[in-house]
Amino acid sequence: MNEKAMMDKKNSGTGRLAGKVAIVTGAAGGIGEATARLFAREGAKVVDADIKEVQGQKVVHDIRQAGGDAFYFAHDVRREDSWQSLMEETVSRYGKLNVLVNNAGIIKIADIEDTTLEDWQAIMDVNATGVFLGTKLAILTMKSNGELCSIINRSSVAGQVGDKTMFAYCASKGAVTLLTKAAALGCAAKDYKIRINSVHPAYVRTDMTKGEAAEVGLSEEEYMEGAKSIHPIGVGEAIDVAYLDLFLASDESRWVTGAEFNIDGGLTAQ
Ligand SMILES: NC(=O)c1ccc[n+]([C@@H]2O[C@H](COP(=O)([O-])OP(=O)(O)OC[C@H]3O[C@@H](n4cnc5c(N)ncnc54)[C@H](O)[C@@H]3O)[C@@H](O)[C@H]2O)c1
Repeated sequence: MNEKAMMDKKNSGTGRLAGKVAIVTGAAGGIGEATARLFAREGAKVVDADIKEVQGQKVVHDIRQAGGDAFYFAHDVRREDSWQSLMEETVSRYGKLNVLVNNAGIIKIADIEDTTLEDWQAIMDVNATGVFLGTKLAILTMKSNGELCSIINRSSVAGQVGDKTMFAYCASKGAVTLLTKAAALGCAAKDYKIRINSVHPAYVRTDMTKGEAAEVGLSEEEYMEGAKSIHPIGVGEAIDVAYLDLFLASDESRWVTGAEFNIDGGLTAQ
């Protein structure tokens, strides 16, 4: 299916998330924005949770214009009080929570010798602590609602294999890979109807890869051209990852928990 056909399909949702309430973090741009828009199209009520208010409000405006239901919440994934307020506001407005996509993330291009303690802490705070807090607070919110629930944690191929140029990022995404499995098993042992899985994209053109290009002194085009050469079927688009999120958010994936989902154009098959 070409990009236009993908977008046409996206424009005609089939209600795969009808009746669901979903929070997507980092939904003001990039992959999170694509996921928030697709979830709304598929019938979910969506909370766009991000530190970037102007961009987040724009996404919500577009969703509402298209007939969807969404609101923006100024949210910092690093702060437990922010998570508590987000959960309270979601339940107050929509009555429950079924899906959380822990998508917000940051990166810095540096090997171990060039990684400062401040860089390490900043990346771990957003990418690892943010996902821990989100997963925990979502379980507490979801566990008594009696409905099938799903938590989707955004890792990366860099959470499965090492990349010397992304030292702290690899460590943070590796933490996401295994905290996901441990939390999934904890929910299963308690008979909660909550599944938890991790999603591992390779290169997807977003503001994050734009920033990476700038860090290494390349234009965005040059950087993505270089990235293409290591992906057997090329680099991805945000919407590609959003469709995997959609499957994991829906009850179609009800027998799936504690699993790693690669979406990487064949990168890790090599
Ligand atoms: N783009 C890629 O190639 C790629 C590959 C693998 C994994 N990922 C992961 O996918 C996720 C989304 O990345 P993207 O490429 O869309 O990046 P992006 O920079 O386009 O979007 C990230 C979003 O997270 C938000 N955010 C950052 N810090 C936050 C905080 N403290 N609290 C709340 N929101 C915060 C930003 O405001 C932004 O809207 C990240 O976790 C990233 O690590 C991206």
